[in-house]
Amino acid sequence: MDVMEAIAVRRSVRKYSPQPVEDEKLEQILEAARLAPSWANRQCWRFVVVRDPQTIARLAQPRGLVTQVNRWLKDVPVVVVLCADPRRSGTRHGQPYYMLDAGITGEHLVLAATALGLGTCWIGAFDEAAIKGILGIPAHIRVVALITVGYPAERPALYERVMRAAAGSARRQPLSKIAYCERWGKPMASSERTREQG
Ligand SMILES: Cc1cc2nc3c(=O)[nH]c(=O)nc-3n(C[C@H](O)[C@H](O)[C@H](O)COP(=O)(O)O)c2cc1C
Repeated sequence: MDVMEAIAVRRSVRKYSPQPVEDEKLEQILEAARLAPSWANRQCWRFVVVRDPQTIARLAQPRGLVTQVNRWLKDVPVVVVLCADPRRSGTRHGQPYYMLDAGITGEHLVLAATALGLGTCWIGAFDEAAIKGILGIPAHIRVVALITVGYPAERPALYERVMRAAAGSARRQPLSKIAYCERWGKPMASSERTREQG
């Protein structure tokens, strides 16, 4: 699968088959993450790969209303906890670049996983202090996201279909709205493509 195909077929997967993820595939997706570009090549990212079901169950315990939506996390085969050390990245005009570095490496991992037939989901709604406590992550490290990894279940769960519909997950803005030509506000000539799927 080439990168354009991986981009096109990727979607968030929230229900996984019990089939375990092979060590080699995990290594491959971490390798894809490792090769990502970063601020001054400082590679501020760190990954905690969690496969122990008991630890995953603890990570999934909802803390507060927002994290309730991610109860499904308890059944996933692998959680990659994406961390960053802000001291190893930069800040420019008040923008902390560790978030960008982490985002790039995370999406490398996600697309590589897609190309290998694995499903993933970015998770931003989590309790950072709780995750850090469970995994022994040092105080100066930030947890940027959790990324679930596993073989997709044959059919998404009902709650997942509801969630997709509620979030309008397949909808994307048309290029004419988001990409400008030469200056802000001037649409590109051929920019009518939209993404609608599922
Ligand atoms: C930074 C980030 C945080 C997200 N957090 C959550 C989350 O906490 N729970 C969840 O179920 N999905 C989460 N998502 C998935 C989005 O809802 C999803 O990517 C979006 O609806 C588009 O759907 P698609 O990924 O299937 O294309 C997150 C995605 C990103 C990029």
